[in-house]
Amino acid sequence: MARYSDDVLNEVRNAVDLVELASAYVRLKRSGRGYVGCCPFHKEKTPSFHIDADKQLYHCFGCGAGGSVFQFVMAAEGLDFPDAVKFVAERGGVRLPELGDDDSEDIYRRKREMYAMNKAAARYFRDCLFSTEGEEARNYLQRRRLTSKTVASFGLGYAPKGWDGLLRHLEEKGFAKDMIAEAGLCIRNEKGHMYDRFRDRVMFPIFDVRQNIIGFGGRVMEGSGAKYLNSPESIIYDKGKNLFALNIAKKSKRGYYVLVEGYMDVISLHQAGIDCAVAGCGTALTEAQARLISKGNAVYLCYDMDEAGQKALARASAIFNGLDVKLKVISIPDGKDADEFIKKYGGAKFEELLESSSSVTENKIDTLLSRYDAEDVGQTVELLGEAAPILAAIGNAVEREAYIRKLSARTGISVQSITTEVRKADRRDSRRQQREQVLRNVYQNRSQQPFAPKSRREAAEAKLLGILAEDREIYVKIRDNLSPELFSEGLNRDIFTEIQECYKGEEPSAEQYLMNRFERREEELAAVIIKSDDPDNRLAAAEDYIEVIRGEDLEKRIAEAEKNGDVVLLAQLIKNKHRKAGT
Ligand code: UTP
Ligand code: MN
Repeated sequence: MARYSDDVLNEVRNAVDLVELASAYVRLKRSGRGYVGCCPFHKEKTPSFHIDADKQLYHCFGCGAGGSVFQFVMAAEGLDFPDAVKFVAERGGVRLPELGDDDSEDIYRRKREMYAMNKAAARYFRDCLFSTEGEEARNYLQRRRLTSKTVASFGLGYAPKGWDGLLRHLEEKGFAKDMIAEAGLCIRNEKGHMYDRFRDRVMFPIFDVRQNIIGFGGRVMEGSGAKYLNSPESIIYDKGKNLFALNIAKKSKRGYYVLVEGYMDVISLHQAGIDCAVAGCGTALTEAQARLISKGNAVYLCYDMDEAGQKALARASAIFNGLDVKLKVISIPDGKDADEFIKKYGGAKFEELLESSSSVTENKIDTLLSRYDAEDVGQTVELLGEAAPILAAIGNAVEREAYIRKLSARTGISVQSITTEVRKADRRDSRRQQREQVLRNVYQNRSQQPFAPKSRREAAEAKLLGILAEDREIYVKIRDNLSPELFSEGLNRDIFTEIQECYKGEEPSAEQYLMNRFERREEELAAVIIKSDDPDNRLAAAEDYIEVIRGEDLEKRIAEAEKNGDVVLLAQLIKNKHRKAGT
């Protein structure tokens, strides 16, 4: 896979101030030469989230999260590395070069222009909503119980009556007719005449995860015509790869997603505080979309209870099958959709539905059981035949056993017989499952385990590395005293070796170099070289740290010699120790 060059990454990283960017997510307080706040990545009451403004690194002493602005954006916005780089580049106004496998110059330019155009269109719709012609739309949104805060946060608007309001507006702003048509904001008839696609409709902008507007949905308020009109797909809008409100839901702290059918359902849920709701873009769910939301702990499927909704539910659950996700089904009573339910009963009741939701497996088993006649032996065999693969698909052994017991209790077939059938049906690649489980455990344990405190030696190594990475001059002055063996094997020694490597060149500081070398380990890097203090005399401090490390090393070797009963070595080491201490 192509990657950005170090120069590009440095430029992007330097274009944005981490303190400023992070301030949008954390309330930061100045502390010495850095900043502290309550970590946005785990729950805490006393601040252990530190930003080193000079090094432009952050590190949480509570959960271990850390890195540069890229890691911050990855974590805060839920992006992968390349997307985080793009996100930061956009903020900093840095023009990224195309990667080998990325867009051509021309497509890249057109995409950027289309984003800008959609943004202009969204502003226009919003302004129309708050002008006199938007009165009816404002009333409509009020009838739907949307607060002005919700309207603002989803960027809702109104496309006025008339045929060319938007067209004229966009042309005035300098956007070309071809592009306006290409984005589907206007339609060109056979005679080449252009007119607005969305007329007299409430407008819902659709954002990608990088906060670009990629399309719109427009709802009629009353009267004839399709309930929703949607933007067509374009170079920036792939309906199968985006989800409505994912840009917001990604930042939710809930650790799961609620997948609903309609834009209005999503908006109502968010307004009720369920900020992890997403929906498709007016098309059937795709695997790519399912993947986007499968990394959390669970996905709650909340589809309409009518026949179409239940069919869509079955399709969706099949798509999620095989992804790393715990699927749950929410059944809304009285055939309502999420929006109507919340309007009637409130958000707290919806939270109850979330809590009482059943898993997809439970749903399936219950359906099987409801069709089953206990008197009929043939049916019992059939039931078991259908249930076995469903049970085999349950990854969690405890959960699986619970279902087996339930089935046994209901049918009178022994747990052992059912288990045998389930084993036969289990053809999954168990190694893959194991690996997934390990990953999940790592992920889950991370925020719970307090970050391991550093030993005296580790702390000294870290501080020494921090100074060395920052300042070539100091490195040069004490280089004769340094060697890779001085540092603990593993990360610290790796960092030192890279610093050595970097200073073979002319660089005055090794920090940027390290960040690029440790691109996938920036979190660990930040934990080591983040500045926890800033001594006045850094040269003297560096020399002190070397002494501490040597001292600790000596203690360790003494302890080892003692343990091994190596008296000669022990005597020599102790002599060294006294010589050092001058006693
Ligand atoms: P719904 O009919 O359930 O709409 O369609 P809704 O979001 O609940 O809206 P309200 O509450 O009636 O105002 C679900 C989704 O299907 C797509 C839209 O994405 C909609 O949000 N859809 C529906 C269309 O694209 N076109 C249509 O004509 C209808
Ligand atoms: Mn609805």
